[in-house]
Amino acid sequence: MMEGLLFLGFVAVISEAAPVELYSRDKVLRLKPENEQHLQFLRNVSLPEQVDFWKPACAELVTTNGTVDIRVPADWVAKLQSELEKIALKYEVLTEDLQILIENQFDQRSTRDIHYNYEAYHSWNEIESWTARIAEENPDLVSRMEIGKTYEGRSIYLLWVGNRTGAEKPAIFMDCGIHAREWISPAFCQWFVKEVVESYNSIPLITTLFNQLDFLVVPVINVDGYIYSWTKNRLWRKTRSKNPGSGCVGTDPNRNFDAKWCTLGSSSDPCSEIYCGPHVESEKEVIAVADFIRNHSSIIKAYLTIHSYSQLLLYPYSYDNSLPFHHKELDDLAWNAVEKLRSLYDTKYTYGPGASTIYIASGGSDDWAYDLGIKYSFTFELRDTGQYGFLLPESQIKPTCEETMLAVYHITHYVLDHLY
Ligand code: ARG
Ligand code: ZN
Repeated sequence: MMEGLLFLGFVAVISEAAPVELYSRDKVLRLKPENEQHLQFLRNVSLPEQVDFWKPACAELVTTNGTVDIRVPADWVAKLQSELEKIALKYEVLTEDLQILIENQFDQRSTRDIHYNYEAYHSWNEIESWTARIAEENPDLVSRMEIGKTYEGRSIYLLWVGNRTGAEKPAIFMDCGIHAREWISPAFCQWFVKEVVESYNSIPLITTLFNQLDFLVVPVINVDGYIYSWTKNRLWRKTRSKNPGSGCVGTDPNRNFDAKWCTLGSSSDPCSEIYCGPHVESEKEVIAVADFIRNHSSIIKAYLTIHSYSQLLLYPYSYDNSLPFHHKELDDLAWNAVEKLRSLYDTKYTYGPGASTIYIASGGSDDWAYDLGIKYSFTFELRDTGQYGFLLPESQIKPTCEETMLAVYHITHYVLDHLY
């Protein structure tokens, strides 16, 4: 007995408790509006915030034959279902009990040893020490810098990945974790850095590649929000900044960039999940990234921002329906990138300009970067298409990252061949 306990002591891992119950018996429904009456219903149902958009979309932008996923609180399920049936609005239940899905994810964690495991989700403490370690262990290839602090005073790190040739090299900027609950995103940034470091020493093609360009990787932008999604509310999206005069916390960092800020597809209500903030670049996290990119705009040739979920590869614009000057080239590049991605596990991605492919949304980082002059600007929305949504199981980290690597490598090679 004693022995057993001692042994457990050695393999014990820091297990995180699932956030307090917030989603017991809540369901996620996928609605399939087919006519104007259905759309009308959706516009109204979203208003009292009694149901919320699991995949944040503006109700006004949902069209017939599109689908919309919503989270329905437990005590509202029966009422909503009967109303949906009344107007014959078809739906599918994506998740029976959201809390069970959340808890399963936390339970799985605590039973496994997590000494560096790229197939696990990691808390901020773990990610932060990983950034220090990967730089220490690869001094010639990786260096860590702090590009700013979050609202709550934490460091926002950037890993500068690429060997030092002495010459100025073009670079690809990639950020993860702008939205807190999209856990697969930081997991991908970590995977990416690991892959690059490992293959640098073993694959000549990659060695050559990294003699010619650098990767600038921010593994988690919205650190405060990420921590909150681990400790308090698994489905938190925004930053954690306080909003004077409102009980609601946070700004949507991807509505806070200087790209037709706070116009279409964003909200000036601090309680909204797509709150644009009190003014452009009000969020310290946004300033950190935007300042870094502005200060290095002469070397940054591509901007990649990693979100989940929906399996999309988006290029500008999202702020309105206009097409960017390079849309033909971006469209071809996106097509090729999603083909590469699909070649591994047959995962199907949709690609196109943000506005027509997902929804109109102003203030996003991709549109901002493009208008700053970074021609190759893309938003990835990783797996899945809604079955698990933000709660993508850890068993899918490896395949998701592997396939996404192919798309990112494709874009990388293309950019190197088309420097400007
Ligand atoms: N799901 C992302 C969001 O809502 C999509 C971002 C696409 N780009 C954009 N500029 N809206 O933020
Ligand atoms: Zn997102």
